[in-house]
Order: sequence, then structure tokens, then C-alpha cells
Amino acid sequence: MALSEITRLQYLTAIGVTVWQSRFTAEVIAPPLEPIDVISIEQATPETPDSWESLRADVIQCEQCTLCTTRTQTVFGEGNVNADWLFIGEAPGEYEDEQGKPFVGEAGQLLTKLLHAMRLTREEVFITNVLKCRPPQNRDPHVDEIKQCRDYLRRQIALIQPKIIIAVGRIAAQTLLNTHEKIGKLRGEVHYVENIPLIAIYHPSYLLRSLIEKRKAWQDLQFALHEFKKITN
Ligand code: URA
Repeated sequence: MALSEITRLQYLTAIGVTVWQSRFTAEVIAPPLEPIDVISIEQATPETPDSWESLRADVIQCEQCTLCTTRTQTVFGEGNVNADWLFIGEAPGEYEDEQGKPFVGEAGQLLTKLLHAMRLTREEVFITNVLKCRPPQNRDPHVDEIKQCRDYLRRQIALIQPKIIIAVGRIAAQTLLNTHEKIGKLRGEVHYVENIPLIAIYHPSYLLRSLIEKRKAWQDLQFALHEFKKITN
């Protein structure tokens, strides 16, 4: 999107005019989420040790928000349960809702290519989302939906204990870091969630529309690889 178009949309938003845009074209200019508590891995430590079986069962049966009435199925996440790399997106879209797997649509294919460029495969990392159910019409997740769902993500992080987390897109980054900061500001530095390094990248759906930002995404992933080497050496 040309800069003048961004400025135009910002002006229109400021004067209260709603302009229809694709969810991910809005990646860099959308208003921030209402603040929610930071995800804490230690918070609400269960009395009995958690397990993948009980977590999967809880997610499949979940009826904590209205998305359970519109979903085809929940999308738990997939990959290596002992992964060093945890990729966290925003929410399932149409294809993910149909197939029950994260990042399988066009954006997912780009994410898979980015992984390959990092010499990683989908099987060796773990990929999940902040929300486990698809928001209708691919709208942005609502804050109350994130609040209901985030304990599942907290439990996934606690079970996997990844060495590094990649927040894929604005919503994942803002949710995990409990911030209003724009994705353009969050990228390019190391953040921490419960002492686990977290790097924020642009969402692949946004990258599909912006060739210039694709270059930045690759810089971000190289930065993540560099950080990962530092942690593991
Ligand atoms: N976008 C996401 O954030 N997650 C998916 O699983 C698919 C598209």
C-alpha cells in the first residue's frame, strides 16, 4: 500500500469513517487491542501436572466463547511437541477451520516457505494460534475471545518449553507482549515472555500483499536465527 493510502486510511479512521479493508492489509495501521494481562506460564499452575491429552480434550470441547457456535472444528496446533521453535499466529481462517490444522491456506504456504528458507520444517517446529477457533468472516479476534482462549496457549507454551517464540503478526505480538505498540515497532528486537525470547514478524497474509515488507520479514527471520544461535551455543 502506498504511503499516501495509509495516511488517507488513518485520516478516515480518525474522523470515524469505517473503510473496508482486508484483515491483513490493516496489519500496520489497525488500532491496537485493548490491553490484556501478559500470558504467564507460571500463573495458575495446575495442581496435577498438565498433559497434551487433557489440553487437547479441553480445546476440542471448549465452549467458553461464542466462536464455538460458528466453528467447523477447533484448530489446536501441530508439530513437534518438544520443539525449540514455537510459531504463534492469530486465529484460524477458512481453510484451517475446514482442515483443523494451522496455517494451511495461502498465508500458511508462505509461512512454510519462510520456514524452509530458515532450514526448518513444519514437523520440527510447533505452529499454533492465539485463538483456537475461526472468527466469522475472518474478522479480528475480540478481546474477550482472546481472554477466554489464552490459557490454552499458556499451557501449550508450558508443555513445549520452546527456546524461542515467533509471534506471527500484530495480534499475536500484541497479545503475547501485552502492548499497544505497532508491529513495525515490535519487530527487530528481542522481547521476552517468561524468560523465553520472542521475536515479532509481519503476518504472512500481509506479506502476500507487500513485496517490500517481504524483505523485512526475511531480515526478521535472520535476526531470529541469529538470536537462536546465541541461545543454543
Ligand atoms: N492466519 C493465522 O494467523 N493463523 C492461521 O492458522 C491461518 C492464518
